[in-house]
Amino acid sequence: MILCYNFFGDNMYLENDIVKEGNEKLRVKCSKVNLPLTKDDLNCLKQLYEYVIVSANDDLVKQYKIRPGVGIAAPQVGVTKRMFAMNAEDFLDENHKRYAYAVINPVITEKSEQMVYLPGGEGCLSVDRATDNLVTPRHYAIKAKCAIYDFNTNKIKNVTMNLVGYPAIVFQHEYDHLDGIMFVDKMYKIKDLDEKILPLYTVDEDEADEACEIENN
Ligand code: NI
Repeated sequence: MILCYNFFGDNMYLENDIVKEGNEKLRVKCSKVNLPLTKDDLNCLKQLYEYVIVSANDDLVKQYKIRPGVGIAAPQVGVTKRMFAMNAEDFLDENHKRYAYAVINPVITEKSEQMVYLPGGEGCLSVDRATDNLVTPRHYAIKAKCAIYDFNTNKIKNVTMNLVGYPAIVFQHEYDHLDGIMFVDKMYKIKDLDEKILPLYTVDEDEADEACEIENN
C-alpha cells in the first residue's frame, strides 16, 4: 500500500487515547453516522485508519509507541458512532490479500451458518488482561453493506463486501464494538464449544510447543 508522505498526522491516536475495558463508552449502542461526514467525524475516521495502517509497520509502531491492532472502532477512542477501521492481512490466502477499510454505518446482511474461531483466541486494544485458552466463535463468512471512505480520492463509496475467514472475523469483532459488545463477552473454552464450530486453521502441535518455549524464555 502506498501512502503519501503527509498521511501521518501529528494528532494520530496514541496509546493513551484508547479507552479500556470497564469504560462505559465501550458498552453503548453507537449511533448512525450522518453523511456527508462532519469534519469531526472525518477526522476521527482518518485517525482510526491511520492507527491500523501504522500498526502494520514495525518501525512506525516503535516510533509512535503504540500497541498494534488490525482493527479499531470509534467507541474505543470514546466516539460512540458507527465507524471503524480495519487492516487485516489474510494470512491464509496464498496472496496474503490485505483488507484495509475505513468503514461507516456497516450492516451485516448475511452470515454463514458455519461458525469458526481463531485457535489462538482474539485480542483487543481495549482489553489488557490475559484471555489465554479462550476462543470466540464467529461466522465463517459474512456479507455486509456499508459506506467506506477512500482516503486516496476523499470520496465515500457504498459497497457490499463479501468476507471469508480471517477478515470476516476481524470485521465481526469491530462490528460488535458498535453495539457495545466485546469479544470477552463471547469467550469459551474450546472443549465447551459445539463440535460443529471449527478452528479457522489448525496449529501444528510441535510448532505450538516451540512457540511457547520461546515465549517462556
Ligand atoms: Ni476490539
